[in-house]
Amino acid sequence: MYSKAAKLFVLVIFFGNIMENASKLEFTNFKCHVKDPTYLSFEYCFIKSVNRTYKYISLKANMYEVPITNASAKLQISRRFRSYMPITIAASIDVCKYMAYKKNLANPMLRLFEEITKKYTNTNHKCPYDHDLIIDRLPSKYLSEHFTNILPLPPGDYSFNSIWYSRNIERATISIYYTVS
Ligand SMILES: *[C@@H]1O[C@H](CO)[C@@H](O)[C@H](O)[C@H]1NC(C)=O
Ligand SMILES: *[C@@H]1O[C@H](CO)[C@@H](O)[C@H](O)[C@H]1NC(C)=O
Repeated sequence: MYSKAAKLFVLVIFFGNIMENASKLEFTNFKCHVKDPTYLSFEYCFIKSVNRTYKYISLKANMYEVPITNASAKLQISRRFRSYMPITIAASIDVCKYMAYKKNLANPMLRLFEEITKKYTNTNHKCPYDHDLIIDRLPSKYLSEHFTNILPLPPGDYSFNSIWYSRNIERATISIYYTVS
């Protein structure tokens, strides 16, 4: 996982060089799909626009096989040209290993992951997870301020795709669609 994260970081630096100004990120869609209905279901998964400056996403996954002792994810960002094309390699993260050791926090992507899980989810603790999983009002503004510094992207339409596994079995996919302007 860490060497893949390092490669992602190199790409980040590459993209960083072609960007000048701070950019703005706005959510356009948020999709949660269950692949294994015996393992989980999504109670909710939505974007809410409170007003022009405050837009957030929330999610609640009901977990049916707790305690969860093994969880990993594959993360990738795509950009829409005619269709969505991957612009980063698929980075893998072993969530339980990460939560146990919290290594590589010098990597800005992992540090952002750490901050987001701490501030906006109930998952920032060591495995096992013996409860439902929640993302609680993650604002686009927060990602505008932090994510776009780490991974500055040219204006366009993007998707952040994640595939979630337990014991290497695909359980769910979560995608955030957003524009950068
Ligand atoms: C948007 O809503 C948030 C939360 O209710 C509030 O704190 C903020 O002042 C609002 N902004 C505008 C421009 O109305
Ligand atoms: C999770 O399960 C997979 C598949 O059984 C295994 O390869 C991996 O090492 C496990 N991760 C941890 C942290 O135990």
